[in-house]
Amino acid sequence: MAAKKKPTVAIVMGSKTDWPVMEFTCNTLKEFGIESTVKVMSAHRTPHEAVEFAESAAKNGYKVIIGAAGGAAHLCGVLAGHTILPVVGVPVKGWSLDGLDSLLSTVQMPKGVPVATVAIGKAGAVNAAILAVQMMAIGEPALKRKLTAFKKSMAAEVIAADAELQAELDG
Ligand code: RP5
Repeated sequence: MAAKKKPTVAIVMGSKTDWPVMEFTCNTLKEFGIESTVKVMSAHRTPHEAVEFAESAAKNGYKVIIGAAGGAAHLCGVLAGHTILPVVGVPVKGWSLDGLDSLLSTVQMPKGVPVATVAIGKAGAVNAAILAVQMMAIGEPALKRKLTAFKKSMAAEVIAADAELQAELDG
């Protein structure tokens, strides 16, 4: 049996309730052949664990951390404050304000501590994975080829959808 690849991306969620969204991140990474570690850790409920994880992430072989939290979403900022790895932040829609609270508290980092914040919810969860792949593809030709193929297949889908629509409108 082939040895399992060591995960290079850490997906850190503020709550298990974020998983239905963050599963899209995990699955998108898998499509590119990238293994991830998925953890629940909260900036508020388990602050020590979150800091320890971020501090040791680089030496544990991770190349990118993807954080996700909702509401007063401080998790990604805390992770970014304790690592030199790039941190991608997914704002998760919380219990009010349609995720605007999560978006602002993830994106509005002070200078010096960036969190690469993506869209709220599923689109952001998928894009977080793609952004992580793009970061890791620098100097990795095999990953670059996968990204090129991904973009081509996405374009082909749009072109096919347009052709289908044109046929429906003409018919
Ligand atoms: C955040 O609070 C989590 O990331 C989650 O999005 C939100 C709600 O958490 P639960 O109360 O559902 O555990 O910390």
